[in-house]
Amino acid sequence: MRSFQSNIPVPHFLSLFATCFAVSVLAFPSFGEGPSVGFTGDIAPLLQRHCVVCHGPEKSKGHYRLDTFAGLMKPGASEKSAVVAGKPEASFLYQLLIEKDSEDRMPQDAAALSAKEKSLVRSWILSGAKFDGTSHSTPLSSMLKTPEYPSAPQTYKHNWPVTALVFSNDGSQLVTSGYHEILFWRADTGKLLRRVGAMPERIHSITWQPTGNFLAVGGGSPGRSGEILLLDLSGQSKPRNIASTSDEVLCAAFSPESQRIAVGSADKFVRVFSVPQGREILKLEQHSDWVHGVAFSPNGAWIGSASRDRTARVYDSTNGAPISTFRDHNAAVESVLFNGDGKVVITAGADRNVRTWDAIDGEHDRTLAKFDTTITRIALSDGKVLIGLADGRVILRELPDGKGAAVTNSIDGRVASLTFNGATGRIAAGMHDGRVRVWSIREGGHDLEFLASPTSTPSKHR
Ligand code: HEC
Repeated sequence: MRSFQSNIPVPHFLSLFATCFAVSVLAFPSFGEGPSVGFTGDIAPLLQRHCVVCHGPEKSKGHYRLDTFAGLMKPGASEKSAVVAGKPEASFLYQLLIEKDSEDRMPQDAAALSAKEKSLVRSWILSGAKFDGTSHSTPLSSMLKTPEYPSAPQTYKHNWPVTALVFSNDGSQLVTSGYHEILFWRADTGKLLRRVGAMPERIHSITWQPTGNFLAVGGGSPGRSGEILLLDLSGQSKPRNIASTSDEVLCAAFSPESQRIAVGSADKFVRVFSVPQGREILKLEQHSDWVHGVAFSPNGAWIGSASRDRTARVYDSTNGAPISTFRDHNAAVESVLFNGDGKVVITAGADRNVRTWDAIDGEHDRTLAKFDTTITRIALSDGKVLIGLADGRVILRELPDGKGAAVTNSIDGRVASLTFNGATGRIAAGMHDGRVRVWSIREGGHDLEFLASPTSTPSKHR
């Protein structure tokens, strides 16, 4: 679900960015005469991304924490000075970054830092290991700035897959994912209303707060970074980054009371943040691979998660205590939902099955539907399960027995995102080729189709 199919031509503007990047690397001043390296701007994000997982509040491997500047400067179990101002080679931390033996090198169990990152650390120590923040005890995570993304191109040279889409709560607007932006459309005509840029390159999740005015956008760049951004729709303020992760954010879900958001990432964690403050309330570390899906139960008491590690899990949403684990997909689990009373969990897996199981004991496994093609998305609609497939079909199945094999629609192409709006009874499917199709769950047939990539081609109506 995470990979974009390779049959999509790489948009021309991508290669343009690549060119610009190469040029800027060449133009990067040589060591010693460049702009000075700052702690908050350069070092804190690097440590936060690569090191804090093992040297932070949850774990302090080697009795060493570097989640604050104060901690960073204090020796760990070895009692060797981690940072000796002005002397990178005498700093234990730097020695561990350039260590040849991968067993001893930091970050442990991961690739070595890039040459650029190592040289940033070296320059910072060499120039005196100065602190340019406000307090030595401020967590590094709160020093993160919203990453500066390139702005979206005025018009796209190629269509961009619609990997995420959502209706506004009243059903009057649709928001779709674009390239470094999200796009707002009128849900009745497909007219483009507004574009909000400075977003991550790939957007995997767009969710509208159930009650309130925030939109949450999750995404990132594969293997490099992930972000969850909150956009306040009541004002003209810019999207605000509430969390940065070391790999893409793949999914997010608001709690029913709207005050929390659960976020799943390719860094294997499920995190829960307060909304709108963005304070991290919980971090769930049970998964050993990408987290593809998250959901709250209808009363907000539980969180469900689906992972590439072949399990789906249920936790207590207040303290993170594990409740149940489901392993019967025997394949990557792609999405997770709760039924209306929250007692049954519905999961879709790479085994091409949609299954239901008991949230409390992880048992009573039933196959709700089985397909001969990949299931790309599932969503709830009026207590039924909508299933989007790689061959373009969108199928509706009743709970609990999977009756009603109704094909609500069949579209050529691959369903990349799927959403339902209760207020209007309409379904929207975002396609891998950049189109969006909208139809009524009662009437079938599409009542609207448009291209969600702003190219010069005008959008098409039916
Ligand atoms: C996957 C977990 C993990 C990650 C990620 C990680 N470390 Fe470590 N680190 C460890 C463990 C485990 C030890 C203890 C090693 C030992 O005692 O042999 C350690 C020890 C250290 C020490 C020595 C502490 C002392 O005084 O004994 C330093 C310094 C350090 N790490 C820096 C870093 C830096 C900098 C990063 C990020 C670039 C990083 N680590 C990322 C697991 C990790």
